[in-house]
Amino acid sequence: MKKVHIMTFGCQMNEHDTEQISGLLSAIGYVRTDAPEEADMILLNTCSIREKAEHKLYSQLGHLRPLKEQNPSMVLGVCGCVAQQEAAKIFKRVPFVDLVLGTKAIPKLPMLVQNLESRPRVLDVSDAVWSDESDYTTMRERKFNAFITIIRGCDNYCSYCVVPYTRGREESRPSADIVKEARALAADGVIEITLLGQNVSSYRDGEHGKSSFPHLLRMLNDVDGLKRIRFITAHPKDLTDELIETMAELPNVCEHFHLPVQSGSSHVLRLMNRKYDREWYLNRIAALRRAMPDIAITTDVIVGFPGEREEDFQDTLSLLREVRYDAIFGFEYSNRPNAKSGNFPDQIAKALKVERLQQVFDVQRGISLEIHAGMVGNTYEVLIESANPRFPGTLTGRTRHNHAVTFSGSEDLVGSMAFAKITEAHPYRLAGELIA
Ligand code: 5AD
Ligand code: SF4
Repeated sequence: MKKVHIMTFGCQMNEHDTEQISGLLSAIGYVRTDAPEEADMILLNTCSIREKAEHKLYSQLGHLRPLKEQNPSMVLGVCGCVAQQEAAKIFKRVPFVDLVLGTKAIPKLPMLVQNLESRPRVLDVSDAVWSDESDYTTMRERKFNAFITIIRGCDNYCSYCVVPYTRGREESRPSADIVKEARALAADGVIEITLLGQNVSSYRDGEHGKSSFPHLLRMLNDVDGLKRIRFITAHPKDLTDELIETMAELPNVCEHFHLPVQSGSSHVLRLMNRKYDREWYLNRIAALRRAMPDIAITTDVIVGFPGEREEDFQDTLSLLREVRYDAIFGFEYSNRPNAKSGNFPDQIAKALKVERLQQVFDVQRGISLEIHAGMVGNTYEVLIESANPRFPGTLTGRTRHNHAVTFSGSEDLVGSMAFAKITEAHPYRLAGELIA
């Protein structure tokens, strides 16, 4: 048995790619190890969404250098979004890397590993035919919840974003394959699925071109054994009334929507090529809340986009106050290779980005705390996901609304559903107790 150590950076898409990579490698005799020093192969599954993420790769490779020098036969590979974007440049910059594997060539990994036996270095950033087999050989991290890819790539070309270049054009997976995979997972004991895609709301069935995302949700809602269906990420431009009504109607679809807004200013949204304005976005939020009054809503915000004036930034803060998100992810704008906004005028100074992001977090902190405080005393159904390493003897469960709750309990409850009563509110977490 050979051993592989995989480090994963970035989003759920990458986490799921790691699961596929593990499955493909296990079929050719590899087992996963947590210890890099005992590995025959180390793979870095990388993210290039922001500059910081890309730096992590190069600093990680620096740390691994002594290990590679001690054990030259160990295979050191870079996969994921940076691999797709930088390709052979990675060999130039870091000569001790053996393998560069793009996001779309993952199914070819076993063959490439074989090629490494006769060649010093292997590079593949080509488009592989989407093979459904790689989805079935996936080695999943958890037995009770699972990711299912429904659409890959992105055609939106937001002016700041690297994803259309690292993940390619939009391509939906046939709904029959998705439903088949969901059934197989449910038969294996999975109770929660998360549908993955850069833009799930533009899902179209690959076979007939007419099955839409709401229709797919209906089919999945009928899969026996599944109790919770989630999805990430949707784009506000194609959040239709039909999708909202379908979500409200289907009992297994969770009452949580992650709807990235990016900016509260219509002027900045236009520069970002987001294809909606503030008014449209707020209208969609209102429609969600009309159909599901207690729905939890989360978002992504970028501060310091080129051309963001003080008044634009104030529009972002006022939007946060108006929408009252349950939680947000906030980012400083970062220039990316290929992304158009790198050449835009009026780039914002680093110090101002830092200051604006701090203000965003300060405003949101208060709102999240108020929302959490309003939950104290209530009881929620939770799926117990893990033992909580920060507080020994405690577990973390997630409500249907995607709130994480920490409570005491024994580790053998992981993977089961329970009820938790909220006892304490904090800005970024909730504490509670299990109800017998
Ligand atoms: N700079 C900063 N944040 C970015 N994101 C995407 N591209 C950039 C960039 N160039 C953020 C967006 C997106 C999230 C996944 O990452 O908010 O929704
Ligand atoms: Fe995910 Fe985007 Fe990072 Fe790629 S660049 S791993 S798609 S977050």
